[in-house]
Amino acid sequence: MLYLSSLLSVAIAAQAAVATPIKARTAYEIKEIHEVPRKWSSQGRAPSDHMLHMQIGLKQGKFDELERHLYEVSDPDHPRYGQYLAVEDIHDLVAPSEESLDLVHEWLLTNGVDKFNYSPAKDWINIYIDVESAERLLDTEYSVYEHEDGSQLVRTSEWSLPKHLHDLIDTIQPTNSFMRTKPKSADWIQFGDKWTPPGYKPPSNETIAKVCNIASVTLECFNTLYGTLGYKQKVPEFNSIAFNNYLNNTPIRPDIFEFLKLYNPAAAPEAFTFKSVEIAGGPAAQFTPLTPFEAANGASEEAVLDAETILGMTFPIPVTSYSTGGSPPFVVDINTPTDTNEPYLTWATYISGQKTIPHVISSSYGDDEQTVPKSYAERVCREFAQIGARGTTLFVSSGDDGAGAADASGCVSNIDNSTIFLPAFPASCPYVTTVGAVQEFEPQVAAFREPGLGLDGKNHSSYYASGSGFSNYFPRPNFQDVVVPAYVKALDGKHKGLYNPNGRAYPDVSAQGLYFAFFWNGTLSDISGTSASCPLMSSVAALVNDALIASGKPTLGFLNPWLYSKGYKGFTDITGGNTTSCGTDGFPVTKGWDPVTGFGTPDFPEILSLLDCR
Ligand SMILES: *[C@@H]1O[C@H](CO)[C@@H](O)[C@H](O)[C@H]1NC(C)=O
Ligand SMILES: *[C@@H]1O[C@H](CO)[C@@H](O)[C@H](O)[C@H]1NC(C)=O
Ligand SMILES: *[C@@H]1O[C@H](CO)[C@@H](O)[C@H](O)[C@H]1NC(C)=O
Ligand SMILES: *[C@@H]1O[C@H](CO)[C@@H](O)[C@H](O)[C@H]1NC(C)=O
Ligand SMILES: *[C@@H]1O[C@H](CO)[C@@H](O)[C@H](O)[C@H]1NC(C)=O
Repeated sequence: MLYLSSLLSVAIAAQAAVATPIKARTAYEIKEIHEVPRKWSSQGRAPSDHMLHMQIGLKQGKFDELERHLYEVSDPDHPRYGQYLAVEDIHDLVAPSEESLDLVHEWLLTNGVDKFNYSPAKDWINIYIDVESAERLLDTEYSVYEHEDGSQLVRTSEWSLPKHLHDLIDTIQPTNSFMRTKPKSADWIQFGDKWTPPGYKPPSNETIAKVCNIASVTLECFNTLYGTLGYKQKVPEFNSIAFNNYLNNTPIRPDIFEFLKLYNPAAAPEAFTFKSVEIAGGPAAQFTPLTPFEAANGASEEAVLDAETILGMTFPIPVTSYSTGGSPPFVVDINTPTDTNEPYLTWATYISGQKTIPHVISSSYGDDEQTVPKSYAERVCREFAQIGARGTTLFVSSGDDGAGAADASGCVSNIDNSTIFLPAFPASCPYVTTVGAVQEFEPQVAAFREPGLGLDGKNHSSYYASGSGFSNYFPRPNFQDVVVPAYVKALDGKHKGLYNPNGRAYPDVSAQGLYFAFFWNGTLSDISGTSASCPLMSSVAALVNDALIASGKPTLGFLNPWLYSKGYKGFTDITGGNTTSCGTDGFPVTKGWDPVTGFGTPDFPEILSLLDCR
C-alpha cells in the first residue's frame, strides 16, 4: 500500500454505504479485446498471488465540456484566450456521476474489494488486488507475457464487466495494455559515433559556421539557429519548466554540473539545487556519479540529456524534474509486488492533484500506439487535455523510428500481420504538441541516420529517423483541418493503405536532434534523438513564456490551436531530408507542414512578434 499512499495526494479509503445485493446485477460481457502485440509471447498463467495495482477509469462526467473549455482558452481568436482553468474547475468537469460511483462501489464490494481510493477528481479508482481476485472481478485469465528483449508483464488480452457497468467504466489497467514507456533514445544512443550525413556541407554563413559543429552541437549553436542568443530573461521567478523521467531514469547531478560548467557556467551551481519530485517511488535526482554497473546499463541518459538541455537553455527559470516509478519492464516475482502500470497515468494523476504546475513540461517517452488498447490511450490522452486546460504546454517527442521502423519487417499490424506504418503514442494524442527532429544547419533537414559503420570504425546497428505519422486511434483534430488534408492530397495516393489519412498527424514542430554535446558518466560525448529535440523545443517555449509573462499576457498553454492558426509563421519551414522507413522512402518532407518536421523549427524573435511581446 505504500505505493498507493504516495501516489495520491487525496487518498480516501472509501467504504461506500450502499445496499449490497449478493450477486452481480447483470451478467458479464466482454468489455474489451486487444491483440497481444507481436514480440510478446505467453509464458503461462500468472501466479495467483501476484499483486496488481489496478486502476479503474470511470467515465468522466463532462469531458466534452472540458474539451470545449480547452479549445476556447487555447484559441487566440476567442475572447477567453488565456483564461486557463483552475484545478478545482477541472475536477468538477471530469468527476463521474454519483450514480456511477455507487454502482461501481457496489460491484467492488460484492466481489470482496473493500479497500480503494480515488484520484483527486474521483475519475480513477485504485485498488490493490491479487491475480486470482482480479480474474474473478473481470472474468478473465492473466498470463505472464515475455517480450523478445526478456522483459515481462502480467496481462490478459480480453476482460469483461457486468453489462450494466459497460458505459460507466472506460478502461481498467493493467489488463490488455502492453505499452512500455521507453525513452525515445534508448535504442540508438551512441558514443563517439560520428556517422556523417552524406553530402554534408558545413554552413557558409560565418556566424553559424563558427558555432555549429555537426559532430557536437552545442547550446550556442541552438541559440544562434533559433534566435534565443543573448535573450535577457525578465521574470524568471514567475516562470517554470519541468521534464519527466520514467523507467528509473533520474538526473545525475555531477554530470549535469560538468556539462553546464562547459556550456553555461552561470547555470552550473543549479545542477545541484534544481527541484526533484519523486512520484510513486521514482528515484530522486542523484548527487553521486553513476556507478560502473549503472553506466554499463546506460542508466539515466535520457534524464541527463533533458536536464542538461533545459538548464543550459533556460537558466535561471526554476526547473522541476519528475521521476515517476512503478514502471515496466520488470521480472515477475510473486514475492515482490511490483507495479506494472504505465507510469504516464501515475504521473498524470499526481499532476492533477497539484494546485500549480509548471508552464512547460517536456516528455521524451513513448511506445507504438498499437501496444496500447484504444480505450486506455483515449483516457491517458484526456489526462493530457486537462493539463492543457490549466495553461501548461506539454511537449512529447515524436519517436526515432520514422514511420514505424527501419524496414518492413518492423512495421507489422497487430491485427492481421499486414505491413503498415506504426504510429507512436502519446505522440499521436491531439492534446499534446509533438516534436520531431532535424539535423544539419544550412539548411536544417529531417533527422536521419543510417545504420552501419560509423567513422569510429564501429558497426552501429541502430537506425534513426524523426518519428512521423498518422494515428490509427485519434481522428484528425479540427486544428489540422487545413494543412493535413492538403498534405494528404499532395501525396496523391502514395503509401495508400499504410497509414490512416483521417488520423491525428504528427509531429507539430521540430528542433535539432543529432549529436547533441552531452556529458554523461564523467565523459563528454554526443547523443541524438527526438529525445533531444523535445527538451530543446520546450526550452524555447519557456523563454517565450518569459516574454509573455513580462508583457502581462497569459503563457502559451496548449499550443496547437495557436500554432495551426497563426503560430506556424514563427517557425522555419523544413523542406528536405531522408525519411526512409518501413521499407519505403517514408513521408516526403515538403514545403509547409509535413508529418516529419511539422511546421519546422522555432524562430524566437518571430514568435515574440507574432505574440506581440517583443
Ligand atoms: C547568418 O546567420 C545568422 C544567425 O542565424 C543571421 O542572423 C544572419 O543574418 C545570417 N547571415 C546571412 C548573410 O545570411
Ligand atoms: C563509465 O565511466 C567509468 C569510469 O570512467 C568507465 O570505466 C566506464 O567504462 C564508463 N562506462 C561507460 C558505459 O561509458
Ligand atoms: C501473425 O503472425 C504470427 C507469427 O509471426 C502468428 O503466430 C499469428 O497467428 C499471425 N496472426 C494472424 C492474424 O495471421
Ligand atoms: C536514404 O537512406 C537510405 C537508407 O540508408 C539510403 O539507401 C538512401 O540512399 C538515402 N537516400 C538519399 C536520397 O540520401
Ligand atoms: C553490421 O551489423 C549488422 C547487424 O547488426 C550486420 O548485418 C552487418 O553485416 C554488419 N556490418 C559489418 C560491416 O560488420
